[in-house]
Amino acid sequence: MADTRDRAHLGTLFAAEEARFVAEHPRSRELFEKAQAHMLDGVPMNWMTRWSSPYPPFVDEAHGASFTCVDGHRYIDFCLGDTGAMTGHSPAATVAAAQAQLACGITTMLPTEDSLWVAGELSRRFGLQYWQVALTATDANRFALRLARHVTKRPMILVYNYSYHGSVDETLITINDGVPGPKPGNAGPSVDPTITTKVIEWNDLDALARALEPGDVACVLAEPALTNIGIVLPDEGYHEGLRRITRDTGTLLIIDETHTICAGPGGCTQAWGLHPDMITLGKPIGSGVPSAVYGFGRSLADLIHTDWDYRAADECGIGGTLAGNALSVAAMRATLGEVLTEAAFAHMIPLAERWADGVQGVIDEFELPWVVKRLGCRAEYWPRPVPPRNGGEAAAAEDERLDRYLHLFMLNRGILMTPFHNMALMAPQTTAEDVDRHTVLFREAAASLGL
Ligand SMILES: Cc1ncc(COP(=O)(O)O)c(C=O)c1O
Repeated sequence: MADTRDRAHLGTLFAAEEARFVAEHPRSRELFEKAQAHMLDGVPMNWMTRWSSPYPPFVDEAHGASFTCVDGHRYIDFCLGDTGAMTGHSPAATVAAAQAQLACGITTMLPTEDSLWVAGELSRRFGLQYWQVALTATDANRFALRLARHVTKRPMILVYNYSYHGSVDETLITINDGVPGPKPGNAGPSVDPTITTKVIEWNDLDALARALEPGDVACVLAEPALTNIGIVLPDEGYHEGLRRITRDTGTLLIIDETHTICAGPGGCTQAWGLHPDMITLGKPIGSGVPSAVYGFGRSLADLIHTDWDYRAADECGIGGTLAGNALSVAAMRATLGEVLTEAAFAHMIPLAERWADGVQGVIDEFELPWVVKRLGCRAEYWPRPVPPRNGGEAAAAEDERLDRYLHLFMLNRGILMTPFHNMALMAPQTTAEDVDRHTVLFREAAASLGL
């Protein structure tokens, strides 16, 4: 089997890619240098320091499944704003709806008629009756966790090792050398997360049963498949076990479909016939106009009502002044009605299959000890000979230097992959030519490793 860990060779290759990026992006560099004056590290949001290039390409325009940078290069975009633009950039239907709404009131803290359609459509897709709106998936998760603790009167929550659900304090926990503790890098945690949260490995039903047995956990917050430490799919029967154990212990089950909406119009919940108590979803639901939702069923709504102080509704820790504003609700209506449709998924999912087949062909040709994983219209490769079964296994296989080299190699040749791991997402406007271009370049990159 080929050894991909020749560090010296990789270092030389990476340095050459860095030099090429700098030579081809003088305008971005100029902006980045000026930006140091008033933005920490020269970027408006700290994640933007995580690109593989010495500084990020500054964007000029983004349309459909591509964008151009201020240096005049065009990129096929498989990152799509890390799912925020899974709809493609500025889809016409959302732009029209948002423009119309922009001209007649952005936020009034009153409902608009669009919200009825959005909630009804979410109910049709995901099977839960009641829906509420937030601005980000982080907030949707925070609000869902609060409601779960409110109705169960239990103090703790449970998440999976190396899951990610946004910058929600309680969820930033991992198992470090066998011991639960703050996720490495967790900045300024309000409390030690082991006080609020239990953390277990994905696909381990015995660990789940043990953690929920004392009856102190309000809810399990889970993606239906992990997506933030690469894709880690559930074992056959895992979801049935998860649902049975949560029900047996009176624990609520919250499914976060923010990334797994890639599986189809109703996410994995619809595709796999799941029955969660709550669902959260954000990112692409407004085509990138900040919007998110959380939903729950009738019985949970009744429980919320039995112990709800309406006089404190504005200060109960749930909601926000701009949540449910007319602009985001109009964007969601257009996105659900005209962009992330059955027809769009029928185009996007086969493209992800094509992408994965192309990558698999290269892995086979060079006998790379890597796997390709796919969920709906999302696919990626991972430097491990067999798919990981949980977050711990996936994290142990991460190879940051290899990952960064492959990312920058693609960027320099006009393809933007999702950073943190080389993940590709298909938009309704992605073409077979875009996918095949990736396959050709992936082969070149594999060949460059000299294996
Ligand atoms: C599964 C999942 N849930 C929630 C979030 C939080 O989304 P946001 O950063 O838009 O609040 C993320 C972000 O990556 C995510 O991957």
